[in-house]
Amino acid sequence: MEQNWWKNSVVYQIYPRSFCDSNGDGVGDLNGIRSKLWYLEQLGVDVLWLSPVYCSPNADNGYDISDYYNIQPEYGTMEDMKQLLDQCNQRGMRVIMDLVVNHTSDEHTWFQQSRSSKTNPYRDFYIWRPGKDGGPPNDLSSNFGGSAWEYDPETQEYYLHFYGKKQPDLNWSNPRLRQEIWKMMNFWIDLGIGGFRMDVIDLIGKDPDQGIRENGPKLHEYLQEMNRETFGKHDLLTVGECWGATPDIGRLYSDPDRHELSMIFQFEQIQLDKQPGGHRWDLKPLELPDLKAVFTKWQKELDGHGWNSLFWSNHDLPRIVSRWGTDGAYRVESAKMLATVLHGMKGTPYIYQGEELGMTNMPFASPDDFTDIESRNICRERRAAGFSEEEILTSLRAKARDNARTPMQWSQEPQAGFTTGTPWFPVNPNYTHINAQQALDDPDSIFYYYQKLVALRKHAPILTQGSYELLCPQDPDVYAYLRRWQGETWLILCNFHQTTASFSYPGQGKAILSNYSQPELRDLTHVSLRPYEAAIYQIQESEESL
Ligand code: GLC
Ligand code: CA
Repeated sequence: MEQNWWKNSVVYQIYPRSFCDSNGDGVGDLNGIRSKLWYLEQLGVDVLWLSPVYCSPNADNGYDISDYYNIQPEYGTMEDMKQLLDQCNQRGMRVIMDLVVNHTSDEHTWFQQSRSSKTNPYRDFYIWRPGKDGGPPNDLSSNFGGSAWEYDPETQEYYLHFYGKKQPDLNWSNPRLRQEIWKMMNFWIDLGIGGFRMDVIDLIGKDPDQGIRENGPKLHEYLQEMNRETFGKHDLLTVGECWGATPDIGRLYSDPDRHELSMIFQFEQIQLDKQPGGHRWDLKPLELPDLKAVFTKWQKELDGHGWNSLFWSNHDLPRIVSRWGTDGAYRVESAKMLATVLHGMKGTPYIYQGEELGMTNMPFASPDDFTDIESRNICRERRAAGFSEEEILTSLRAKARDNARTPMQWSQEPQAGFTTGTPWFPVNPNYTHINAQQALDDPDSIFYYYQKLVALRKHAPILTQGSYELLCPQDPDVYAYLRRWQGETWLILCNFHQTTASFSYPGQGKAILSNYSQPELRDLTHVSLRPYEAAIYQIQESEESL
């Protein structure tokens, strides 16, 4: 397969609201990001993905855009954006923008026009239907709870919204709408961005009358048109968020011969703690063999036919160290272990802000502490359905998106050095010992471990191109796999638990990286792994096994 630049890249996701506040209003901003480029450069990442910074009434923290051509004033100005792009380019970093085009804000002028009359030229930019039997057109539900249809008294019809009521879905079957989107994308491309992260892109081919949400019949046709009309003429990174993709679907998006996207961002590894067939808030204990099976399936099935994103975290997910690792005594070891297992695979790794510090979930005390629209809705629904406050809090603490949205922990200064004012969302109280300043002062920190992994990615083609083979699939504690490339073999070996675990491989390993001290050459035939021990070994095969 072709060697595109983004196969050796590591992407760092910034949630601008919570990254760094430059002017003391409590909200992170573009100039705050600019002031921290030295830090990102030190980590070694070469792509920054910015969650939305466009004008927005913030019903869903910017994922409800009211003007695609302007910057939300609390984040700065277009001039600040240009400066940010310039400074990133000077440092060899590219910026990819969040492209939220399944829906807009209801405050976007297109929607204002659309709702004003049935004959308005923008009417068909959105999806309007008459009601049925005094209710909504059908029983489609919103991903944020309740019906996906909202009645609008102005023209006495319902509009579709797969997210909040203030996020009306765009009608992609309208060619005029598509033209407007291409124009807007080209505007950003001309400004010099490095690509797009495409929000819930699997929804744009929807057919609401047939009840089709994701992966609609025209989805790939639209993406091919998008490729032709916009980024296809440029060398950009494009990544599609697709929650429910299978590997077959993943190939449709990312097989280079199909001229759609560079890669997909799918969530199967993240959804293992959900009851089968249940709601994402119905928890299930995590089992390591399930995780291995999922990662392995994707490693194998996209190999040579597509490209995957490797991630543990983003702004919609709780903190990974609190989920598959531990917030407790082995926080540092487990955070490094999780990084190892992920960055050793094929795909493009993503680091979500604060992951490189081992930032943890927030110790929320009550369901009322959550402010995110999804959590507010689920809380209301579950209270009405008779769940106890305890049960609701347990689910929210485990899963809520707010866990990842607390301000970035820069230092021990008040408010973790994120702002000199009052932060828009509370800082996690553990900032006193978990913060960037501390990490930069400690050569054994999680930060420097990530720095090594990022550097390795750039210099070791075995990681970007080698084959993948899973060892001991049923072992409940150890995740071990081999990467092979041009006669060389690497073993990625990780203990997922706080107890010691045994492992055996016929050979010796030269440690390339580990979260514990390692002998020069380790005999791997009878290994006892320490709590959350992780290592990448270059294998020297023993005589017998050759
Ligand atoms: C994506 C975003 C999420 C947002 C939703 C609706 O899943 O990552 O934050 O709420 O789309 O735009
Ligand atoms: Ca600010």
